[in-house]
Amino acid sequence: MTKIFAHRGSAGTHPENTMVSFREAERVGADGIELDVQMTKDGQIVVIHDETIDRTTNGTGWVKEFTYKELRKFDASYKFAGQYGFCPIPLLEEVLSWGKQTKLLFNIELKNGFIQYETLEEQVIQMVKEFKMETRVILSSFNHNSMARCHRMAPEIETALLYMESLYEPWKYVQAIGASALHPYHATVNESLVHEAHQHGVAVRPFTINKQAVMKKMFGYHVDAIFTDYPEKARNVLKTI
Ligand code: G3P
Ligand code: CA
Repeated sequence: MTKIFAHRGSAGTHPENTMVSFREAERVGADGIELDVQMTKDGQIVVIHDETIDRTTNGTGWVKEFTYKELRKFDASYKFAGQYGFCPIPLLEEVLSWGKQTKLLFNIELKNGFIQYETLEEQVIQMVKEFKMETRVILSSFNHNSMARCHRMAPEIETALLYMESLYEPWKYVQAIGASALHPYHATVNESLVHEAHQHGVAVRPFTINKQAVMKKMFGYHVDAIFTDYPEKARNVLKTI
């Protein structure tokens, strides 16, 4: 059965990458949560998609130029006009500490394409190990060298390659890196890609699927999971298949 990963939590209805968004995803029956991580000036791993805080909070500036104490003062739910109260940017530690008590899977996307945070991979892996969540976490990135490094450091944690364009026989590439899954942009996915990937023992989890018709198509292809901003909608669509 295809799994449903709530993209940045239930980001279609709640402030993305916040605890309220993650709790909502669990409430509506998501199998897993996708979240993005960056690093602060004082080396804390924080859950935020962009390199800056401008789009998602009431502040402005680079994540890497704030200490976590400074960053915690900004509201990541300001666009929701007080509907969810004050929502700070969470620490990865905070999410895993809560997540450990649930049955959820976690896809931690390392945002190390644009900025090369020197110790991001080591710190994320160390934290996953501290929480003993190795079998419930998938690491992913558009930076495939980073995924190769993560696989070398912790082969017991699953790694996945994010990509936007069609790739030729991508399962070979995945296997060469030591990763175990493809996380493609959904428009590049067809039935034969999913079939061939599965024949080679490679999972396929397309992103980000918010339309009912595309959800149905991907469920019909038997993809391993979808990423969606609307996990409740996806759960309802899946019930009809
Ligand atoms: O992991 C799937 C998806 O989150 C990748 O793109 O930009 O939403 O982080 P983005
Ligand atoms: Ca992401």
